[in-house]
Amino acid sequence: MMVDYIELNQKAWDERTSIHFRSKMYDVDGFLNGGSSLKEIELSEVRDVDGKTLLHLQCHFGLDTLSWARKGAIVTGVDFSPKAIKKANELKERTALQGEFICADIYAYEQVATSKFDIVFVSYGALNWLPDLNAWARLVSKSLKENGCLHLIEFHPAYDLHCGEPYFSQVAPEIYESGTYTENGDGLKMQMATWPHPLSEVISALIGNGITIDHLHEFPFSPYNCFEGLEEKETGRFCLKNTVHPIPLVYSIKGTKKGKPSGV
Ligand SMILES: C[S@@+](CC[C@H](N)C(=O)[O-])C[C@H]1O[C@@H](n2cnc3c(N)ncnc32)[C@H](O)[C@@H]1O
Repeated sequence: MMVDYIELNQKAWDERTSIHFRSKMYDVDGFLNGGSSLKEIELSEVRDVDGKTLLHLQCHFGLDTLSWARKGAIVTGVDFSPKAIKKANELKERTALQGEFICADIYAYEQVATSKFDIVFVSYGALNWLPDLNAWARLVSKSLKENGCLHLIEFHPAYDLHCGEPYFSQVAPEIYESGTYTENGDGLKMQMATWPHPLSEVISALIGNGITIDHLHEFPFSPYNCFEGLEEKETGRFCLKNTVHPIPLVYSIKGTKKGKPSGV
């Protein structure tokens, strides 16, 4: 029998959601008290969101989405976990922030999406759950207005390579059973499926779907202490310890959907 990997992952993300919601790492109380979950990389790269429409793909339970709303963005979040979307709506009510949360697998959403946004935001641990990056990039492109921007801030595949995991893309997923990355997540054991995506695949998928790459940045730190072997070298910057040379842990891509040149 064929395993439905999207369904496998959706069940696991449902289970992860309540654990994450209670975790120190996500600090929901801090957010409810007026804080922001956004980190230094996205805050320095995604600027001037006030009054802009922003689509957050794979928004989890909406902390970042609503943090953008706090900065004045008109936000929409999409995630396939019903529990995550329920929590996102709960947070929206409790904070009286505005926003729309859609519960959908991004591939199903791509089939029906018609809305256009100024910004598409995707961050930290999103792409490895996706088997088909071309369909993801098609969704990004069709969701952007002319001159609208994608901001992708993602964990760097160099860390996987460092851990002996595959780097290049593959059709078959990597299946693993583990807890989750928050400090309270060891008790959970769920099977999940992931797909590796090298930087070349991400960039080529975007270019192939009409997105011009404005920058690619790499960072030797993660703002989250969510991997084995990290230490906080500076406040909010978790680096790999015991390495002679730093390895990149996060990368960011800004891409623009260019309009057709006049006269074409
Ligand atoms: C690591 S989280 C992203 C974290 C995010 N940066 C945040 O704001 O917390 C990955 C998210 O992707 C979602 N996801 C995974 N595969 C998906 C799919 N095919 N369609 C929609 N959401 C998906 C999961 O439910 C989960 O909320």
